[in-house]
Amino acid sequence: MSKKLQREIAKRRTFGIISHPDAGKTTLTEKLLLFGGAIQMAGTVKARKSDRHATSDWMSIEKERGISVSSSVMKFNYRDFEINLLDTPGHQDFSEDTYRVLTAVDSALMVIDSAKGVEPQTEKLMEVCRMRNTPVLTFINKLDREGLEPLEILADIEEKLQIECTPLSWPIGMGKRFRGVYNLYRKELNLFRPGDDIRSTKTVKIADLSDPQLDQLLGSQADELRDDIELLEGAANPFSAKEYLRASQTPVFFGSAINNFGVQEMLDAFVELAPAPGMRETAERIVEPDEEQFSGFVFKIQANMDPAHRDRIAFLRICSGKFTRGMKVKHHRLGKEIALSNATIFMAQDRANVEEAFPGDIIGLHNHGTIKIGDTFTTGEVLKFTGIPSFAPEHFRRVRLKDPLKSKQLQKGLTQLAEEGAVQVFKPVTGAEFILGAVGVLQFDVTMERLKAEYNVNAVYEGVDYTTARWVECADRKLFDQFQKREQGRLAHDAEGHLTYLAASEWRLGHTMEEWDGVQFLKSREHS
Ligand code: G4P
Repeated sequence: MSKKLQREIAKRRTFGIISHPDAGKTTLTEKLLLFGGAIQMAGTVKARKSDRHATSDWMSIEKERGISVSSSVMKFNYRDFEINLLDTPGHQDFSEDTYRVLTAVDSALMVIDSAKGVEPQTEKLMEVCRMRNTPVLTFINKLDREGLEPLEILADIEEKLQIECTPLSWPIGMGKRFRGVYNLYRKELNLFRPGDDIRSTKTVKIADLSDPQLDQLLGSQADELRDDIELLEGAANPFSAKEYLRASQTPVFFGSAINNFGVQEMLDAFVELAPAPGMRETAERIVEPDEEQFSGFVFKIQANMDPAHRDRIAFLRICSGKFTRGMKVKHHRLGKEIALSNATIFMAQDRANVEEAFPGDIIGLHNHGTIKIGDTFTTGEVLKFTGIPSFAPEHFRRVRLKDPLKSKQLQKGLTQLAEEGAVQVFKPVTGAEFILGAVGVLQFDVTMERLKAEYNVNAVYEGVDYTTARWVECADRKLFDQFQKREQGRLAHDAEGHLTYLAASEWRLGHTMEEWDGVQFLKSREHS
């Protein structure tokens, strides 16, 4: 294995942000990109986000897709590191993609609003991180406002997310009394000055908290800090890099993204602590990033701006070896060799043609309908990466065709859109109409618009009485037959023909699961 390849791997950090809308993800992303020199002007990412809020008609959905293509992966350099920040769409465009992006990262950054604590979307995204034991670093935001007590926030994280918190910085006051943070591992005080756009934090080394300088700088709040730290030393677990990498502990930082406070301290710790690209599982064996042979998998497919061309971009995460432009790779599902001449690498604002790329990097491949989510590309043996599943939808709609003669086209369109991961498609065992499933409701509008524009199919959707789904499997044939007979009204096949149980409520699902003890109800399923 080459030294160069190992050096390239060691300096890469590929991560995603998990948060609930409005916690400050966009603001924080912007500050991170500023530190990386990837954008010159504050407000660029934000401007995109406000565009995104005006959705709903076809043009804006199209526009939005363009926007999310260009901001899907943001690459920037910081110190000696090359960082790939993968966007996790969170507002109306929250979708299965948001979950699947997390299968392509090596670690995650969790942003929590200090006034709100853990919110529902964060819980859902953490569940995905837990599937692969993805290490998570936490940033508690908006300390410049009144919020929950820091210890209360940590307790909320520990309880709801089942992960141990270990603060690496500690806030001094909050809201109007917010004075800054004490960096516990560097033993220095960072004093808060609101409104700083670039870093100009005043940092004072305070190795020992009994140092009288602390009283001079913080007045009566010095004793509050001393008390807090004493309490913390008794209550919180010491930081362990091993536990963080095993995803059983999350290091916590406090700050205010909008004031660019605490962000660089967090970024410094992030690049030092977060893992470089590591090994990945395939159905055949474990692949190490420093293997000479190139390998990667597709985790996201994005339709392009121009519906006339039906061009799609497939996002491929490199897992091993080196990518060079024009190299030939094997597309294993199709058993074909293709040349990667037209790959794109994603920058904060622009897309540029890539000459070479390394494990952890994401490249965009032009795709004319031959690439599916989960596809593996390699230059070596036949492999199939695992761990890029479909996730049980949370919203459902029934599709009604306006022109009954178009049912073939409808089927074709829905099958292709399902392969892209845009929406999930279910065909009930009894009943003729398709049921669509999605993680975010915007996908239903997008699906109808794309059926019209790309397949010339006029269809509408209507409400349907399902709220949750599980893929079902059972080793006991006889039991499974009984189950299928009794529950046939609630069973459907997904686009790949796998049997799925659709339930009207979590309660109903729980009841059925209890009743059919020998049947497995799966919340996610690997692509075949
Ligand atoms: P998101 O991407 O997670 O949805 O959040 P975003 O960054 O857009 O932030 C949501 C709101 O929270 C924004 O206010 C933003 O300015 C504010 N915010 C972010 N970080 C901080 C912080 O450290 N302190 C305070 N006080 N506010 C913060 P908005 O009113 O929705 O938008 P805007 O009009 O201010 O741009």
